[in-house]
Amino acid sequence: MAEEFAGPADRPLDVTSRLQAALDHLQDGRPSDAEGLLRITLAEVPRHPDVLNLLGVSLQMQARPEDAIPYLAQAVSLQPESGMYRANFGAALALAGRGRDAAAELERSLELRPDNPIAKRNLGVVLAGMLRGPNAIPELERATGLAPDAPEPHLALAHAYLEAKRGHEAAEAASRALAQTRISPKQAEQAAFLRDAARGGSPDRAPAAYVRELFDVYAQHFDAELVGKLAYRTPELLGRMLERLALPAGGAALDLGCGTGLSGLVLKPFAGRLHGADISAKMLELAGRRGIYDELFECDFLDWLPRLKPCQYGIVLAADVLNYIGELSPVLLAVAPVLEPGGVFAFSLEKPEPGAPVQLTSALRFQHDADAVIEAARALGLELAARGEAEMRMEAGKPVIGTLLALRRH
Ligand SMILES: C[S@@+](CC[C@H](N)C(=O)[O-])C[C@H]1O[C@@H](n2cnc3c(N)ncnc32)[C@H](O)[C@@H]1O
Repeated sequence: MAEEFAGPADRPLDVTSRLQAALDHLQDGRPSDAEGLLRITLAEVPRHPDVLNLLGVSLQMQARPEDAIPYLAQAVSLQPESGMYRANFGAALALAGRGRDAAAELERSLELRPDNPIAKRNLGVVLAGMLRGPNAIPELERATGLAPDAPEPHLALAHAYLEAKRGHEAAEAASRALAQTRISPKQAEQAAFLRDAARGGSPDRAPAAYVRELFDVYAQHFDAELVGKLAYRTPELLGRMLERLALPAGGAALDLGCGTGLSGLVLKPFAGRLHGADISAKMLELAGRRGIYDELFECDFLDWLPRLKPCQYGIVLAADVLNYIGELSPVLLAVAPVLEPGGVFAFSLEKPEPGAPVQLTSALRFQHDADAVIEAARALGLELAARGEAEMRMEAGKPVIGTLLALRRH
């Protein structure tokens, strides 16, 4: 028997049939038709929890989580014991990027309906997006159990294991991520990088998409974190090195991997024109706000540099950037031609432990033996002009020792 509500002219309103019709629309992939029908129904029965819930779902299916949230929240407040409503609400919160609220809602939903596979999967993926670092390992392990066929929790767990220096488990978690059929090409590239790093291998570089995402996420906190908490001073150290080289003033300079522009501030006094290049749009946005760059380029510099006119720059600076590249020959090969004769490429490297000339750390940054880099550069017409060693910043309570190099083009 269909549920009956009083309609506008006291006609009985068959809400159940309308809900069924809306569900049919949703199941047939017509969420906007469902939305239309549900909005008409809601105007007549404004506090009907099923209508509110399904309207939220239809908006959610149109990738409009912000629009869905108020309806789903109202459905939950009318029927707080409905695990299904809470699961839908949690999914919308997750899609809107409100990870903590989403996790709380999904946890509650699973308490009410522990067997809901979609809520479990969503919670696993939400937890993977929120939790970082070795302390999160137990929760991330739980996330892989909740969503065993989703790549995200396995990837996040691989990161956390690697940070905890549990290489074997990190490699296994990365391999499990790679085995998932739903893994995207970007996630697969990242998982392969993690697996290789965990096995002590040395891939040529960190995947571009991984670096972009890392710095897009980090951008807002970058300056406060690095300068405020980690005593970051690589730009300042490289600036002092450039001063000692007594370079001709007024030429063009390129800040490679310019980030938020901390390195540009140091480079500016040496530059008639200042360019910056970075792979992260969010970092570039902040760099632009400083008003010190004449031009900014969003690019992977390994692809971009070879397209530039030769002999453009008197100085190319890369402060805390080359640690995202393992094999540096392509960088040297690409930078050398864009330097004017006599121009200088100044950059920092992280110093490795004695052993292999290139090492990938558990923080997923490369360390390079400076002597090997100097030798490779010489073969490309770049001669050592200055060299120094210094504490560049702190990491996990210890100083990161770096080598600062300036190479001059013949
Ligand atoms: C640690 S930050 C340093 C930023 C800046 N140089 C400074 O000293 O504050 C490293 C920057 O290099 C950029 N980066 C790393 N690899 C890159 C690539 N292949 N192409 C362009 N930018 C890259 C990152 O996006 C990030 O903004």
